Amino acid sequence: MDDPSVSVRHGTSNDAAAVADLAAQLAQSFPFSRTRFDASYASLLDMEHACLLLAVDGDTALGYLLGFEHATFYANGPVAVVAEILVHAECRGRGIGRTLMEAFERWAASQRCGLVALATRRAAPFYVALGYEESAIHLRKVLREPAER
Ligand SMILES: CC(C)(COP(=O)(O)OP(=O)(O)OC[C@H]1O[C@@H](n2cnc3c(N)ncnc32)[C@H](O)[C@@H]1OP(=O)(O)O)[C@@H](O)C(=O)NCCC(=O)NCCS
Repeated sequence: MDDPSVSVRHGTSNDAAAVADLAAQLAQSFPFSRTRFDASYASLLDMEHACLLLAVDGDTALGYLLGFEHATFYANGPVAVVAEILVHAECRGRGIGRTLMEAFERWAASQRCGLVALATRRAAPFYVALGYEESAIHLRKVLREPAER
């Protein structure tokens, strides 16, 4: 990325409000709940298998990526999965998403992951531009409606 004022770092407990603002913009399938976000946020920071990255310009969060690594048999070891990525609408097209993905790939490599995978409905051209290839379809079954969880 050309903009030297933008950097990527790991999220901390001080970033909860900023990440919540961004995550609320990503939520589509389920209504965003700040109460449920707060319940998840602290435990996510404590998970050694989780990686929360923020793209920041000074004190301003411009985007985030949440990913995980987990063990597999099929890849002969751990793989990494991007669960969520969002760049603030006014900041898109400046290379911030790419920078977040590259930072996640470095984290995944440091965890000895053999690949990075993800599911997408809206952003396939972004991932293709970063060298990702289509390899599967993504299916899901909703087990409980948000109000019941
Ligand atoms: C997808 C998203 C994270 C991309 O972030 P971004 O900062 O705009 O992406 P970048 O500027 O880093 O783009 C990187 C490359 O992807 C390409 N790209 C990005 N979005 C694209 C799109 N919608 N269609 C085609 N190419 C796209 C860019 O042209 C660029 O290619 P280049 O480096 O060869 O010029 C951002 O658009 C976003 O937050 N979207 C809404 C949330 C979302 O859909 N998240 C993904 C859920 S799976």
